[in-house]
Amino acid sequence: MGHFKHAPAPLVWCGERLAASQVAGLRGYRCAGADSLQGVSTRDTDWDGVRLHIVTGKGGTGKTTVAGALALALASGGKRVLLIEVEGRQGIAQVFDRPPLPYEERKIAVAPASETQPGGDVYALVADPESALLEYLEMFYNLRHAGKALNRFGVMDFATTVAPGLRDVLLTGKAAEAVRRKEAGRPLYDAVVMDAPPTGRIGRFLNVTSEVSGLARVGPIRHHADTVQKVIHSPETAVHFVTLLEEMPVQEVLDGVAELRGLVGGGIQVGGIMINMVRPMELSASQLRAAETGSVDEHELGIGLKTAGIDDSVRLAADLAAELTEHAVAAVGQEMQRERLAEPAQPCYDLPMITDGMDLGGLYRLAGALRDQGAA
Ligand SMILES: Nc1ncnc2c1ncn2[C@@H]1O[C@H](COP(=O)(O)OP(=O)(O)OP(=O)(O)O)[C@@H](O)[C@H]1O
Ligand SMILES: [Mg+2]
Repeated sequence: MGHFKHAPAPLVWCGERLAASQVAGLRGYRCAGADSLQGVSTRDTDWDGVRLHIVTGKGGTGKTTVAGALALALASGGKRVLLIEVEGRQGIAQVFDRPPLPYEERKIAVAPASETQPGGDVYALVADPESALLEYLEMFYNLRHAGKALNRFGVMDFATTVAPGLRDVLLTGKAAEAVRRKEAGRPLYDAVVMDAPPTGRIGRFLNVTSEVSGLARVGPIRHHADTVQKVIHSPETAVHFVTLLEEMPVQEVLDGVAELRGLVGGGIQVGGIMINMVRPMELSASQLRAAETGSVDEHELGIGLKTAGIDDSVRLAADLAAELTEHAVAAVGQEMQRERLAEPAQPCYDLPMITDGMDLGGLYRLAGALRDQGAA
């Protein structure tokens, strides 16, 4: 493939993880190996049938960054992808190093082309409920220039007080509309990626039908909410979870997956688990175990230092051994979190920690890692 920089070398126990996922009958956790780097035109990605990708996760784990990388990855090969932000924080603009974005679909990036594949386009939209309501009213009631009146009379406040879920249905509705939009008989966007609210709010955010029922049991709003629900609950939609290998973000993944699967009226398809900010590990599993229990051979370390031409002192070897143990304890802790992530039996993808500052280059690297592992 060669048009994305490759992810760093997979973790040393990648093989073990692959075996574990095979036992569970999963397709994920393909390590970036030779066969995942073939030409992209005929490849079968893990989410081929999915057109609405919803990205959630604990706050600060990298939802916006990963949503951006996923949009780039999906756009590769001449596709057109829309990236939607719903929290109104201009996170997408920041990730793509752009000035603040308006409520308007705008091209913000191109996926790189290769010798065999054309590049693709990523568009972005910052969807705020007020603009979405306006657009909705214009579309369904032909109310033009209603903006000022809306603000003056506080219709948005009124509407969201009467039907708290309306706000959410307007935002998910915007994504559903973009997924369904056609131009010349074919979908305008090959995929839509939503940088969604954090896990704590995702179930309620997506399960809007019950929320708007108070306001509208019949009529266009009801119809709109039903249409949105159909899209969200369809196999064309998947909710991906971003996490770090830490206790709390992992717990949120487990809780979030359970919540989506348990929703009344049918679950919502759970997508991949994107493990973000993974650091490469140089030690083998057995070396790690030795280091973790503090049984590092200091004498051997000393010899190693000498061989490397480093002035040996017993202290240096001891310090190194202590550091190694600390490192190993952290690494083993991370591996425990990884094991917990096996429970939902969903494909997992590793995204490397970008250590030299997150910028556009870093974003393209993350996109490459997602493609290499079959997520897009
Ligand atoms: N793989 C990575 N390597 C290095 N830094 C990263 C990586 N992913 C995200 N970051 C950095 O972590 C910070 C948080 O990322 P981001 O804003 O995407 O998280 P978020 O989950 O969207 O946060 P919020 O909950 O506030 O919306 C940012 O500074 C981002 O650049
Ligand atoms: Mg964000």
